[in-house]
Amino acid sequence: MGSTDNQPPSAPSAFEKRVKRRISARVHDFFAVCPPGLKTTCMNELAKLHPDIKEIQPLPGGVAFKAKLPMGCLANLSLGSPSKILMRIAAFKAENFSALEKNIKQIDWELFLPGNAALDIQATAHKSRLYHSGAIEERARAIIEPRLFTPGKKSEQNLLIRADNDQFELSLDMSGDLLFKRGVKQKVMTAPLRENLAFAILKTAGFTRQDVLIDPMCGSGTFSIEAAMIQANIPPGFFRSFAVEDWPGFREKNFNHLKKQLRENFTLGTGSKIFASDIDASVLSLLTDAIDQHDFLNTIQARETDFFDIQPAQLTREKGVVVLNPPYGKRLGSNMDMTHFFSEIGKKLVADFKGWRVGIIYPEKALGKVMNLPLRPMPFFHGGLDLFAGIGKIRG
Ligand SMILES: C[S@@+](CC[C@H](N)C(=O)[O-])C[C@H]1O[C@@H](n2cnc3c(N)ncnc32)[C@H](O)[C@@H]1O
Repeated sequence: MGSTDNQPPSAPSAFEKRVKRRISARVHDFFAVCPPGLKTTCMNELAKLHPDIKEIQPLPGGVAFKAKLPMGCLANLSLGSPSKILMRIAAFKAENFSALEKNIKQIDWELFLPGNAALDIQATAHKSRLYHSGAIEERARAIIEPRLFTPGKKSEQNLLIRADNDQFELSLDMSGDLLFKRGVKQKVMTAPLRENLAFAILKTAGFTRQDVLIDPMCGSGTFSIEAAMIQANIPPGFFRSFAVEDWPGFREKNFNHLKKQLRENFTLGTGSKIFASDIDASVLSLLTDAIDQHDFLNTIQARETDFFDIQPAQLTREKGVVVLNPPYGKRLGSNMDMTHFFSEIGKKLVADFKGWRVGIIYPEKALGKVMNLPLRPMPFFHGGLDLFAGIGKIRG
């Protein structure tokens, strides 16, 4: 039963002991929220991450797993495909507001959340007697806020309340900013590919640390930067922070130690393994700016080149992975026909990329056929559109 006292705990060590017993030492339910199409990549990542991560299970909207809090932190730091990671803090049935309030009062909010939390509460209700999400949020806020007591600079925290058939689930967002924000790029072009999608396409195309990459319509370089991080063994979340870092159960010392160990395993290369190019010099400068700022990006060679002029053999003797996010819709320009453009891309790949693995994004299923390549379509959703990533290998 949570304390209703809104004073800070007088004996920090007693408070810390409670946090340890109730939060840090317990196994919790986590949920990695994934965009459609990325669940398999996320399951594979979780399965490899740590043996203490158990009961990995695909569910609508993402992948559930059980672990202790430090493993949840490791997942935030190390997974490339999810959008965010939630920690479930309560599950109960409530058919009316008094049952809802009674259950919310029982949660040890002060053990989960920092005292200075600025709480964003988002409720959704489906097939439930309590269906007014605004009223659910209001009742929850009225109970939780008086329990958080520290004035001063606020820590942004998100609480998600989901009601389905009168069954409530309350989860805290451990990530804060969406996880595709890696903290590497300073500037991006309009509607760039999200990093978690680029990561999943690279992984599904079989890209490994040993492979070379050609990213011939690189724009601001999302694929190339993700590939450089994979090659250098840098966890996707290494350069950013997470909402969980403000929680009372977060152990800063242990987390910093973990990051130090991970840093010792970075393999910063020299010599080009990643060939990024674009026909548009202005977008390319976004990538070259990032390369100038981060040493680990020095494996990327960025050039202004037309894709149709590229001869892979002039760049590398190895055959690796080629990834393309061609322009489509408005970006293609009114005088270019999409069917013709994608058919030309297909012909170029067959002619000059024999033996290369390929990952190519296209906006309509029919365009997959137009390219006449042995591609397996991986459907996903991006920027309000249903898209496909065609994954395969060019014969030869
Ligand atoms: C959809 S954007 C790529 C966005 C990129 N994935 C990102 O995250 O920033 C498509 C890019 O293809 C480039 N492009 C179009 N035609 C090209 C061509 N023939 N050769 C090289 N690049 C081309 C455009 O300049 C544009 O930057």
